[in-house]
Amino acid sequence: MSQQDQIKWDKKYTDNDSLLGFREPGALLKQFFSYAGGTRALDIACGTGRNTLYLAQHGFEVDALDISAVALQELTQHLQKVTDLSFVHTQLTDLDSYTPPPSAYDLIIQTNFLDRRLIPLLASALTQGALLIIETYMIDPENEKKGSNETYLLTPGELPGYFDEHYEILFYDEFWNQGENYRMRKQGIVVRRV
Ligand SMILES: C[S@@+](CC[C@H](N)C(=O)[O-])C[C@H]1O[C@@H](n2cnc3c(N)ncnc32)[C@H](O)[C@@H]1O
Repeated sequence: MSQQDQIKWDKKYTDNDSLLGFREPGALLKQFFSYAGGTRALDIACGTGRNTLYLAQHGFEVDALDISAVALQELTQHLQKVTDLSFVHTQLTDLDSYTPPPSAYDLIIQTNFLDRRLIPLLASALTQGALLIIETYMIDPENEKKGSNETYLLTPGELPGYFDEHYEILFYDEFWNQGENYRMRKQGIVVRRV
């Protein structure tokens, strides 16, 4: 476990109430989840679980992974109020050293988090016909949040480049975010394993 990352993110969640409140699930998830052929889902860097909750409420069994114990505890408390806990398996995980099981999930979601090493591994963790949805920030001179570490920002046109002919791109776009603290450019992609 990268202790530094864990301390950093636990502190962010503890110091910032707005990160713990209700937040809308990702727009691409809402638009595309019903295309998944089955109900096994993985939420990568789930945070307090806005996407996990949405999936659990729509009948998915979700593995929800994050490095922040504070965020996962918030998710567990929320789940106790709104849905059947048995649908969600939270797991304190350092994604820097995580490898998902191959061909295991019908839907994988990753929002507002980037680890380039993981993207091909997530693609391999899809069952045939399954969906991978990624939405996260990219480099743009007009991004409001200055000084972000560019390691965690996509470059223009980057996401489609991770997928070969075994994956069908159902959606790809670059757009300005909505309803977040800073105005930031993002990329979103939805791919299906064929
Ligand atoms: C901006 S939040 C996004 C949370 C959620 N995906 C969402 O869209 O609401 C980024 C998340 O990545 C998690 N994270 C950062 N580094 C991580 C690591 N090495 N392993 C696992 N999770 C990590 C943080 O704890 C945090 O919850």
